[in-house]
Amino acid sequence: MLRRSAKLAVASLLLLGGQVAAQTPVRIVVNADLGETTISRHIYGHFGEDLGRNIYDGFWTKAGTGQWHLRDDVIEALRRIQVPTLRWPGGCFADYYHWRDGIGPRDRRPRMVNTIWGGVTEDNSFGTHEYLELIQRLGAEPFIVGNVGSGTVEEMSKWWEYLHAPTGSPLGDERAANGHPEPFAVRFWGVGNESWGCGGAMTPQAYADAYKRYAEYLRGSRPFRIASGPNGDDYAWTETMMREAGRMIDGLDLHNYTVAGTWATKGRATEFTEQGWFTAMQRAERMDTLITRHSTIMDQYDPAKRVWLIVGEWGMWHDPEPGSTPGFLYQQNTLRDAVVAGLHLNIFNGHADRVRMANLAQTVNVLQSVILTQGDQMILTPTYWVFDMYKVHQDATLLPLSVRSDTYTFNDQSVPAISASASKDRDGRIHLTLVNLDPNRGRTVQVDIRGQGLSTVAGRVLTAPAMNAHNTFEQPNAVQPVDLRGARLSGNVLTLDLPSKSVVAVELR
Ligand code: AHR
Repeated sequence: MLRRSAKLAVASLLLLGGQVAAQTPVRIVVNADLGETTISRHIYGHFGEDLGRNIYDGFWTKAGTGQWHLRDDVIEALRRIQVPTLRWPGGCFADYYHWRDGIGPRDRRPRMVNTIWGGVTEDNSFGTHEYLELIQRLGAEPFIVGNVGSGTVEEMSKWWEYLHAPTGSPLGDERAANGHPEPFAVRFWGVGNESWGCGGAMTPQAYADAYKRYAEYLRGSRPFRIASGPNGDDYAWTETMMREAGRMIDGLDLHNYTVAGTWATKGRATEFTEQGWFTAMQRAERMDTLITRHSTIMDQYDPAKRVWLIVGEWGMWHDPEPGSTPGFLYQQNTLRDAVVAGLHLNIFNGHADRVRMANLAQTVNVLQSVILTQGDQMILTPTYWVFDMYKVHQDATLLPLSVRSDTYTFNDQSVPAISASASKDRDGRIHLTLVNLDPNRGRTVQVDIRGQGLSTVAGRVLTAPAMNAHNTFEQPNAVQPVDLRGARLSGNVLTLDLPSKSVVAVELR
């Protein structure tokens, strides 16, 4: 609470006195001994929809062998950033997907047309068992979204039973015949996706009623039941779901994308002016307000904060890269995406008491991906490096902090220039992540860390000369973190220089 109320106070001061504040150095105060809330590792979750080249040709390839197999280099890269959760099979695709088409011998599975994404024909070779093998190799937890929009209560309930039933029961035996005698450990279960849109175009009341019926029949070992949540600022959706179905909901799945243009013309990932940079920052910053407002509604029905607010889809959505299949949503990823990611993750950490999972959309070759592939080549995007730098926050204790920062102003509009988050891990190390949203000017930041003695500091910085700097298959390492130089610790005051448009992660011991 301290962090948020302090931040609000500082923000108002900045709005009222921009002139004075612009001359004030950035100062952060961290209370290293007052942390209470754990930052759930699932805030660092990802999303692997059957969309474009995310699954087929992303995780799942015929490259090299001519036979379908999981892609080792992609898995290894994702293990490095400690992917805690991977949401699947969608997205909109979840409400088209019939799980029985994706089990059993691969050569006997029915082919299907992915009518929602690109109209391509797929052979269903990547199904439940393949997904759960991927999850196991990633060392992650599964998050499966069942079909409400075009499915039935029976179909969803049997999928759950197929995963969990012991052998000796019909569905347990079928699973064993398909190669997995042991029940699968699946806990996170989505009851439909975007049920206000591609998942059935329902009113909140109609979905609340449907949700209860579907959720009721997920029996045996009880899932962690995740309801389709609001679209951005649809607070009526949250109110209705919490009032009508709150007692049967464990997680409510908010979706909100950052679009730097309009929905019709979003703009290119790599070609934009400072207006495109500023709009992205301003809209990304809005995530803080969305979470605050949805949380206050949830607090009315669930003051104990049992129900997780999940941000199951977030990230930058640009126009597809020229020459790519439009329905595949393939886009490049620049320093702008990375700064937006750092800002989001700081915001999620700050709300760790209510936000306990988030899933960046999406992992490979789709929207704000952490990995892009081309044949057997793979590159890591600037956003990948943000997840690498921030992984230290997973399951650490959030430290209360306040930020006194001037603003980044463009065409008479402003956002706070600096965003920050701090945590303490199990070994007592303090981790500080900082973002400078201003593409024109660096900032010197003083961090006053109270309540714990410190003697060493080390860090990494991600930045580049241009706002649109990005990695390509020709230049895969154009944007990657380097050691942070010049950070100095005097007693418990850390002073460091944040370059313009940068993400910094610092470790203090
Ligand atoms: O991530 C792409 C799509 O965006 C998802 O399928 C859907 O849930 C959302 O509208």
